Amino acid sequence: MTIPKLKIGNITAEIPIVQGGMGVRVSLSSLASAVANAGGIGTLSSIGLGDFVASLSEYERISREALEFEIRRVKKMTDGPVAVNFMGVLSNVNDLIVAAVAEGIKIIVYGAGLPTALPELVPDPSVNLVPIVSSARVAELILRVWDKRYGRIPDAFILEGPLAGGHLGFSKEQLAQPQEFSLERLLPALLEVLKGYEDKYGRKIPVIAGGGVYDGRDIARMLSLGASGVQMATRFVCTVECDVAAEFKQAYLDAKEEDIVIIDSPVGMPGRAIRNDFLKELEAKGKLAVKCPYRCLTACKVEKAHYCIAKALLNSYLGDVKNGLIFCGQNAHRSDKIVTVKELFAELVAELQAL
Ligand SMILES: Cc1cc2nc3c(=O)[nH]c(=O)nc-3n(C[C@H](O)[C@H](O)[C@H](O)COP(=O)(O)O)c2cc1C
Repeated sequence: MTIPKLKIGNITAEIPIVQGGMGVRVSLSSLASAVANAGGIGTLSSIGLGDFVASLSEYERISREALEFEIRRVKKMTDGPVAVNFMGVLSNVNDLIVAAVAEGIKIIVYGAGLPTALPELVPDPSVNLVPIVSSARVAELILRVWDKRYGRIPDAFILEGPLAGGHLGFSKEQLAQPQEFSLERLLPALLEVLKGYEDKYGRKIPVIAGGGVYDGRDIARMLSLGASGVQMATRFVCTVECDVAAEFKQAYLDAKEEDIVIIDSPVGMPGRAIRNDFLKELEAKGKLAVKCPYRCLTACKVEKAHYCIAKALLNSYLGDVKNGLIFCGQNAHRSDKIVTVKELFAELVAELQAL
């Protein structure tokens, strides 16, 4: 097949692959720049960049400065398109978004929360606003509110299906019926909802579909169903450039299908992770000690939290995977080698061209 370009506003990616943002330092400037240099869209994660300091204001300052550092670094490493991923449940999300825009970021991706007031925070129309949704219903809600309040529509949507990694926009009951909520069902429903707004505003709203997209055949299937591109994250963990410790990548290489499980997160959403020593200890004890001088997540009820997710994810990033949470997508068990981002793109492009 001929590979279509992906257009978001006035930004064009040669290859319609967006590398999904991966929180607590999994996708920083090394990975995002390599993806942008390979022809896709790289995504920096703004999540968990702060250290464990004494107060929320100190945490906020350190997170902001770390994000600014990563943005400046990524810009030195690539001229290609780079987005920043934000989660609505972060207590300092607005501060981080404003900082990213001030640093010249032109694609703001917003998940884990409703971005109903985002156009007010980022009124500059040259900055592309891209909500992550898991249903046509939530997309319709965002469209309705933005259209009415701001006379604006999102510049793209990321549609995340139930096979994705990290936090998931589905209940555990929904996750138990993956066919019912498959991207193949969600995507046509979302495209239908967009039509009226595309007509009203006279432009296309591209949809980028993700969650379990692993090879060229998966990408082609999403494009044939009407997606303008795909979002892939799990596949990028086992790359040389991915910012995590070698032990994190090794956990992917070692994982078997049955090791990939759904967990409860203090964020208040289910998540997908590798069942390792950390999760086994949590299952056995029910609750691990939580020390929290501040709340980095608005949704986290510290006194009820079974563990500190920021600390658990940070441990894994640093390589202490025995004491850490390892987020992954449903297809992580298919990882069998570490490749460069360039090699991965070459493989995916060759698979697409062969179809
Ligand atoms: C290790 C890991 C961390 C993730 N962290 C985030 C995050 O912080 N914010 C977010 O919006 N999505 C996050 N995701 C979801 C990805 O961005 C992506 O949408 C999803 O995993 C795509 O499915 P795939 O992994 O099967 O390709 C994460 C995924 C993984 C594997």
